[in-house]
Amino acid sequence: DILSFNDLKLDESLPEAVPAKIYQSYDLVDKRIKVSGWVHRLRVSKKYAFLVLRDGTGYLQAILSGDCANAAQALPLESSIELYGTITKLPEGKSAPGGVELVADYYKVVGLAPSGDDAFTNKVQENADPSILLDQRHLALRGETLSAVMKVRAAFLKAVRRFYEEERLTEVTPPSMVQTQVEGGSTLFKLDYYGEEAYLTQSSQLYLETFLAALGDVYCIAESFRAEKSHTRRHLSEYTHIEAELAFLDFKTFLQHIENLLVKSVKYVLEDPIAGPLVEQLNPGFKAPEAPFMRLEYKDAIKWLQEHDIKNEDGENFKFGDDIAEAAERKMVDTIGVPIFLIRFPVEIKSFYMERCKDDPRVTESVDVLMPTVGEITGGSMRIKDTDALLEGFKREGIDPAPYYWFIDQRKYGTCPHGGYGLGTERILAWLCNRFTVRECVSYPRFTGRATP
Ligand code: 4AD
Repeated sequence: DILSFNDLKLDESLPEAVPAKIYQSYDLVDKRIKVSGWVHRLRVSKKYAFLVLRDGTGYLQAILSGDCANAAQALPLESSIELYGTITKLPEGKSAPGGVELVADYYKVVGLAPSGDDAFTNKVQENADPSILLDQRHLALRGETLSAVMKVRAAFLKAVRRFYEEERLTEVTPPSMVQTQVEGGSTLFKLDYYGEEAYLTQSSQLYLETFLAALGDVYCIAESFRAEKSHTRRHLSEYTHIEAELAFLDFKTFLQHIENLLVKSVKYVLEDPIAGPLVEQLNPGFKAPEAPFMRLEYKDAIKWLQEHDIKNEDGENFKFGDDIAEAAERKMVDTIGVPIFLIRFPVEIKSFYMERCKDDPRVTESVDVLMPTVGEITGGSMRIKDTDALLEGFKREGIDPAPYYWFIDQRKYGTCPHGGYGLGTERILAWLCNRFTVRECVSYPRFTGRATP
C-alpha cells in the first residue's frame, strides 16, 4: 500500500530543525535542517527513495526511508515540499552537490504537482519540437541547462556593472519609448503614442551621448527592440543591450576600453563561485580571452575573404564597400579562431553618426567585435563631433534632422571627442555558454511570431 503524505508524522522528540537554503545546507554537516524547494529528481526503490531537491540556490540529494520512502511513490516531480532531516557528509568516492546528503526524517507537501498526462515530464520533453518547448518556457526554465545559463547571465550583468563602477561610469536609465531611430528605419517597432508616431528604442546611444556633459562617462543596461524579419540564430526582437558612452578619448583608447570590459567581465564571471563552475559545465574547457585582441581593418578583412574564396551575399567575390553579412563574418572568425576587433568600416555601410578616420575619410573610427561561433557581439564607434558633419550624415541616410535637435545640441553646447558601443547580452552569453542560439540565453525569447508566454 502506498501511504498518503498526510500520514507522515513529524517526530517532535528530534532536535529542532534549523531552516536553511540549499547552499547553506552544504555547511551544516550533522545538523538537523528544514529545507524547502521543488522535487527535481526522484528514484524510488523498495526500501528507499532518492530525491534531489532544488531551491534555486542549489541541488540537495536526500535519502528517504520507511514511511517517507513509501509515500514518495505518489510524489510527482516538481511538487514543492518542506523537507526535514540531518545533513551528513558523503563517504569518499561518492559525489553529490556540496559533498553532502540529507538523511530525511519527514516532509510535508506544500504544492502537489500533477501526475499522468499533465505531469511535468510530459510537458517539457527534452527532444520535443522547439515551438512546443517555447510554449512551455515557464516550465522549461526549471531545467538544469536553462537555469544555469540564467545564472551565468545574472553573474555577467553583475560583472559588467562591477567593471563600470571600477571605471567610474554612471548608470542611467534612458527611455524606451522614443521618436528617433538609431540603426535604420527598417527594424523599428512603431507604436501609437497618444495619436503621435513613436517607436520602441533600437539603442539608447543617442540619449547616452546627451548625458556626457551632465554626468561624464555613462552606461545603461536596457532592452532594445528590433523588428528583425529574418529568423537567425543570433537575432531577437527584444534583447538586453549593454551600452556605454565615453567622453574625451581617442579611437585607440576607446578600443582598449572595450577590450578591458570583455576581459574583466569574463574574468569576474569565471571567478564567481556560482557562475564559474556553471560556465565550465556548459562550455567545458572554456578559456578566458586575453588582451590584446587581434585588430583587423575592414579592407584587410575584404582581402582575407577574397583569398579564402568566401563570397558576398550576391554570391560574388567580396569588394571594398560590401557589407560582411552573418555567414561570411562567422566563417572568417571561426577560421581565424580568436576574438577579432574588426575596425575602420566604410562610411556607406555604417550609421549616420560615425566619425571618419583622419588618415582616410572613406572609412570610420568604428569597430565590430567578433567572437568565434557567434560572430558580432559588439558594435561601436567614435561619434561625429561637429554639427555640420553630423547634418551631412543625416542627409546621406535620408533622415530628417528635426526630431534630433536635442542630439545635435550635444555638439552645439560644448562638443567633445567621444565614443560608445553596444554589447548584446545574449550574443556574448551564446559565446560564453556555448549555446547554438541567442534564444537559449534569454528567459523568454522574442522573435517573429513569438511573444508568448
Ligand atoms: O551593432 P548595433 O546595431 O549597434 C547599435 O545599436 C549602436 N547604436 C550601439 C552603440 O553604439 N551604443 O547593435 C549593438 C549590438 C550588436 O553587436 C549585437 O551584439 C546586439 O547589439 N544586437 C542584437 N542582439 C540580439 N538580437 C538582435 N536583433 C540584435 N541586434 C543587435
